[in-house]
Amino acid sequence: MKLTELTINGVGGIKFLHVTFRPDMNIICGPNGIGKSTLLLAASFPFFHGHTQKIKRNITSERGSISLKVEANSANFNPVADITVHLPTESAHYFNDDGFDKRKLIKFEIMRNFDYKHLNALNADKSLSNDQISQQLNSGVNLNDIKDWFAKRDLFENVKNGYGPNTIKNIHLARECISILNPQFSFNRVDPKTYDIFVNTPTGVIWYEYLSSGFKSCMSLLLGIIKEIELRYPEQDLFAQEFDGVILIDEIEIHLHPEWQARITEALTTTFPSAQFIVTTHSPHVVQNAKSNQIIALVPDSNGTVRVKELPENGLGYSAWTVEEVLLDVMGMESTLSRKLQELLDNFERLVDEENFDKAKEIYDYLDIALHQNSVLRKSLRISLMSIREREE
Ligand SMILES: Nc1ncnc2c1ncn2[C@@H]1O[C@H](COP(=O)(O)OP(=O)(O)OP(=O)(O)O)[C@@H](O)[C@H]1O
Ligand SMILES: [Mg+2]
Repeated sequence: MKLTELTINGVGGIKFLHVTFRPDMNIICGPNGIGKSTLLLAASFPFFHGHTQKIKRNITSERGSISLKVEANSANFNPVADITVHLPTESAHYFNDDGFDKRKLIKFEIMRNFDYKHLNALNADKSLSNDQISQQLNSGVNLNDIKDWFAKRDLFENVKNGYGPNTIKNIHLARECISILNPQFSFNRVDPKTYDIFVNTPTGVIWYEYLSSGFKSCMSLLLGIIKEIELRYPEQDLFAQEFDGVILIDEIEIHLHPEWQARITEALTTTFPSAQFIVTTHSPHVVQNAKSNQIIALVPDSNGTVRVKELPENGLGYSAWTVEEVLLDVMGMESTLSRKLQELLDNFERLVDEENFDKAKEIYDYLDIALHQNSVLRKSLRISLMSIREREE
């Protein structure tokens, strides 16, 4: 299944927006409040089997609507939903059976951390009802049951007539995921007495809940996807790498250092090569590592609404661009200089024009210390400063 097109009319802050999706990775970027999370919510709304208070019509529109195009099993579907509610306590409902498998859309919200959870016992797998799957579109994938799911499969992997061959492949994949972003970390064991999961790390063998927030965020995504695929299809023995559904992730870079921000999308697409991802980000490192045409950059329109920005396209993505070039030309930042530096440079330029050597030198002396030791600015500031003296002579 793939989402191919989404049209939003009068929903949340979006008056009108039409986007087309690629079948692999779609990275949505744009300033705060432009409508990235609204876009994810709108794309997921036709997968609801229930109600949500999260989606509202645009306050200035008479009514809102969402039209989604879905391709599944070589057939095309076009669910359309009206959004009429706007009060905080009102819910929008969607119960339509549109003819495609609604279990195939998995959504992660921005909360992806978890604390230690003591398991008294391992529970039988609870297959998820349509209502529970729908509930997860509201609150994001349930991360609380990952430990139980993982521990059970690890401990009972070799039980005769137990798990199917693909479920066993999935637990191997899940263990490998622990090392995917840093090979110095690896799965150690599940303790059969406590059901706790232990991980080898450069600083010792630790409980997996002791991992850092960035690590836990990645584990939540990678293990969360495998777990969901299994619990949503209890009657089937599916290999997670073959999952061809849709995965929505809000703010993919959350908790991650730039080095991991740069690698998270590739880690996801190599682990789940058949899935379609639609993710949002504020990270230039995520954008820099996008392949050609994977970026959907939302920008404010002249009439105060939102549009998809046409991006410079060389067919090779942005991996040869600097972070600064990505910020300016893709993510729409006006300047990558701090406000303070910009102000000092503007003042310096004005003082040079006014031939006020003493005041210009004050700024130069400050920047001589404050600039990065290799900054090329220092030299050009000195030349400008000296030009005042030359003009005086
Ligand atoms: N019912 C509504 N009518 C009009 N505008 C709305 C309505 N609901 C929300 N908005 C506007 O839409 C914005 C929310 O958009 P959204 O949360 O999708 O932004 P975002 O791009 O995800 O931002 P961020 O990067 O901060 O997460 C709000 O900032 C608000 O200004
Ligand atoms: Mg958002």
